[in-house]
Amino acid sequence: MKKISLTGIKPTGDLHIGNYFGAIKPALELANEYDARYFIADYHGLNTMKDPNELQSTIRHVAAGWLASGLDPDKVIFYRQSSIPEVFELTTMLMAFTSKGLMNRAHAYKDAVSKNNLKYEDTDAGINMGLFTYPVLMAADIIIFDSDVVPVGKDQLQHIEMAQDIAQSVNANYKQQVLKIPQAAIQESVAVVPGLDGRKMSKSYGNVIPLFAAEKTLRKTIMRITTNSQTVDEPKNPDESQIFQLYKLFADDKEQSALADRYRAGGMGWGDAKEELFRAANRCISPIRERYNAIMSDIPSLDKILAHGAEKARPIAAATVKRFRKAAGID
Ligand code: TRP
Repeated sequence: MKKISLTGIKPTGDLHIGNYFGAIKPALELANEYDARYFIADYHGLNTMKDPNELQSTIRHVAAGWLASGLDPDKVIFYRQSSIPEVFELTTMLMAFTSKGLMNRAHAYKDAVSKNNLKYEDTDAGINMGLFTYPVLMAADIIIFDSDVVPVGKDQLQHIEMAQDIAQSVNANYKQQVLKIPQAAIQESVAVVPGLDGRKMSKSYGNVIPLFAAEKTLRKTIMRITTNSQTVDEPKNPDESQIFQLYKLFADDKEQSALADRYRAGGMGWGDAKEELFRAANRCISPIRERYNAIMSDIPSLDKILAHGAEKARPIAAATVKRFRKAAGID
């Protein structure tokens, strides 16, 4: 039997190529080896997004983005967290095994507190219980599907460790393996995608190349990449150029070495380098963009795919809750 890989996708607007190469593509590659379960973490999104139109469209955007990027819903169980009520029942059960002190140590909560303290605000200003208890819901997301591995970025490692702690407390209490202990799969080799200004591509830095931008916008965005003042004639070091780092994501080995030679030879200006990047990026992104637009033009079919995924996921979730209830004496 294949091992189970599970990951949650927080609804965020404007998927960019950093998301694609840093999260989507590696997770889809993992889906070839594992029995994959990927879901839209929409109740996690509710903690921060209170505008219903925004939340609704963000959920669809992210789901369509993963499908357009190649997620095959016949192979991967793809669903919305909110469609699996058992997740929330498990969350309540796990709450009884989660010390408040553990939650006090969560990075996201601590960051919010220290921001408040810096501003001389009340320590807990603007912090809702959804944020405070986020790691418990995330533990339930993971544990409910007997997940073996959870592919996540480094920033999520603490959450996985908390899920392990909580599951272990349950197993220790009942002196049996009620819940499977998940492992994090941090993908070290995943490229850090540089943004327009050379820093890591991130929505919060405003330096992103959007994944689904129309061709014209894609070109314009690439032309905005910051460069140094080297003249056209000067030889350039491809390893020091974020334009080349980005190009490498889209080009094969032969193309990469051919272009690297042109950088080193001199005679190629940054404008040409950007043009090459645009061509390679557009070639890779065009089919994804077309699929995305097609999916977004037929929301009922998209919703059907997600509902179908939830149908497959629910019996697995129900079995975990049943096992736990039995062990706990609530059967
Ligand atoms: N917390 C994750 C993030 O911010 C999203 C997430 C929610 C998740 N539930 C999960 C990831 C379960 C892995 C497993 O990106």
